[in-house]
Amino acid sequence: MDDIEGKITKNDEVAPGYYLLRIKLSRPMDPFVPGQFVMVRIPGKDVFLRRPFSIYDYRQPVLTLMYKVVGKGTEILSKSRKNEKVFVLCPLGKGFNLRRRKHYVVLGGGIGIAGVHALIRRLGARSSVFFGCAAKEELALIKDLGDLPVAASTLDGSYGFRGTVVELLSERLATFRKEEMEVLACGPVVMLKALRRILEKDRIPCQVLLEERMACGLGLCFGCVTKTVDEAEPYKRVCKEGPVFDLWEVCL
Ligand SMILES: Cc1cc2nc3c(=O)[nH]c(=O)nc-3n(C[C@H](O)[C@H](O)[C@H](O)COP(=O)(O)OP(=O)(O)OC[C@H]3O[C@@H](n4cnc5c(N)ncnc54)[C@H](O)[C@@H]3O)c2cc1C
Ligand code: FES
Repeated sequence: MDDIEGKITKNDEVAPGYYLLRIKLSRPMDPFVPGQFVMVRIPGKDVFLRRPFSIYDYRQPVLTLMYKVVGKGTEILSKSRKNEKVFVLCPLGKGFNLRRRKHYVVLGGGIGIAGVHALIRRLGARSSVFFGCAAKEELALIKDLGDLPVAASTLDGSYGFRGTVVELLSERLATFRKEEMEVLACGPVVMLKALRRILEKDRIPCQVLLEERMACGLGLCFGCVTKTVDEAEPYKRVCKEGPVFDLWEVCL
């Protein structure tokens, strides 16, 4: 882990309220595992705490993040211009474990796709990708996946399957060999809860990337804890023991 200075080279709105941010780092970042994240110091003096974002892509020297504007920090970030200086603590946390199965079913819900983008790229043909969003305007979030096949759902039915991405997966679940697959997911808690319900019967292995509010991102403040089934030590720090957890170990 390192605190690296960088310069913004691109900060474009790719869909309404969603931005792709490219930062040219002044030094190489340590190798990362998909699912790990960075803590970005928001330019200016108005936001004290850094904000966590998943590593969307990294090709030395350029780190790419994708973010949705939800509050003050991301609002200020969206107004940041080319050549502006940023500091990035990276890479942080524990990413996805990709040594367990032959085939992975990857699910991204809305901006949750940012948390699994690097993962999809790394897995290539070893994965089947599902993406869910509100309407077809948000399909721009999967544009960078190029030719990789993606099963998409929209809540308003303007593209692909009408409904949630979990409902779509539920329809297709029987087409996968359960003993060879594992599900990897990132999205809102409501999506992860629905996912748990459809995987519960066969207890299909699943890792989930949790997004909790963070202060330090380094395991020091215990501001990001989540409850797990571990009786000896139930509370785990999302920034240190996560953000990727086994679905069957967390209490959503
Ligand atoms: C490991 C990790 C990876 C993440 N990766 C991404 C990413 O790649 N792209 C992206 O857009 N966002 C990501 N997030 C969420 C992102 O950190 C928050 O959206 C951001 O910190 C909000 O900052 P803000 O100042 O704009 O909003 P705030 O003013 O701090 O909050 C605005 C609203 O968002 C909610 N909120 C704030 N932080 C979180 C959070 N961490 N999880 C859920 N709700 C939150 C608040 O409750 C509030 O309703 C990630 C979070 C974590 C923990
Ligand atoms: S954010 Fe401080 S311990 Fe996780």
